[in-house]
Amino acid sequence: MEKVFRAVKVTDRVYWVGVIDWVLRNFHGYTTHEGSTYNAYLILADKVTLIDTVKAPFKDEMMARVASVIDPRKIDYIVSNHSEMDHSGSLPWMVEQVRPEKVFASVMGAKTLKELFHWDVEVVPVKTGDTLDLGYMKLSFIETRMLHWPDSMFSYLEEEGVLFSQDAFAMHLASSEIFADELGRDLLEREAATYYANILLPYSPLILKLLKQVNEMGLKPKVVATDHGPIWRRGEDIAWILGLYEKWALQKPTGKAVVVYDTMWGSTDLMAKTLADGLASGGALVKLMPLGGSHRSDVAAEILDAGALLVGSPTLNNNVFPSVADILTYLKGLRPQNLIGVAFGSYGWSGESVKQVREVLDAMKVEVVGEVKSKYVPTKEVLQECFQLGFQVAQKLEEICGGV
Ligand code: FEO
Repeated sequence: MEKVFRAVKVTDRVYWVGVIDWVLRNFHGYTTHEGSTYNAYLILADKVTLIDTVKAPFKDEMMARVASVIDPRKIDYIVSNHSEMDHSGSLPWMVEQVRPEKVFASVMGAKTLKELFHWDVEVVPVKTGDTLDLGYMKLSFIETRMLHWPDSMFSYLEEEGVLFSQDAFAMHLASSEIFADELGRDLLEREAATYYANILLPYSPLILKLLKQVNEMGLKPKVVATDHGPIWRRGEDIAWILGLYEKWALQKPTGKAVVVYDTMWGSTDLMAKTLADGLASGGALVKLMPLGGSHRSDVAAEILDAGALLVGSPTLNNNVFPSVADILTYLKGLRPQNLIGVAFGSYGWSGESVKQVREVLDAMKVEVVGEVKSKYVPTKEVLQECFQLGFQVAQKLEEICGGV
């Protein structure tokens, strides 16, 4: 059955031909409460050019949107800004369908596409500063290695001022409004921050370098066309999201403390709540996140603007609780910076969990302020220790950053 979907005009010569994934709730382990989009763009120049493709199961939807403005067989070039499967999954199929004259990717992208698809399609490698003549317009390229894959790059259509930024400045948000100015700032900030925390956080030093590079190049895009979520087309919105990226990449500590824990019979829960009380009494802003009801990607988002991370776990079979092992593995990979912390937890007889939590916090370069353990149910003395430790963390946060 031929599908009917429309393209959306972005500028005079650029159309959005992406797809909306309303039902996505799991993006490789990141909970996407609001679904997502996989954005692709069509440039109507002498050389008709498709920027990126979409996740494979959505290929017909993308094709229908292309067909709503042009015969897809008129596509001359395909540019792959990022090889990850949500943007390249339907590339082999698209190449087969439209037989473009050329496919372009960054140097690493050309290599990655070959390794992903084991195909013999020739991909033309492009480097930072290379340009591609599309007739009366041209595309230029900026490699953005490790943002967030080695192959990642930006493409810039100077004549229309459109920066195709792949995953950068993106968010997982399914919406029939495809422009950021049609949506509220609170929603945009929450979803962009969650995306940054879960996808880009480990590469924050590179983000700072890239922002500097873009500035030095004098690049002033009128439109930032991302690969997920809404398109930024107002100058004030572009400046706002760039400013947020700088803030998130710097990871300056704040007076906010995130308490993450799980519990077996309520002892670690009671310790967590008492630590939270001590934190609040000391002036910290507290976010308590029991892992029974908090997803790892939401925890990551909360940590993005925090100054302290307190992690609690009961001991189970000589180990940390499985949910705590999960969050610690995830957070360690995301490499948050500039945090102080606490390890805490309850146990029955062996009690290894607190030491194990502490070891991971040390490996993450979290400055551990203290630890507290409880044998079985916490006594009044242990709870006083928890309160005091929470208070001490809040005071240290105050010293570091002057409070919230
Ligand atoms: Fe949206 Fe890194 O793929």
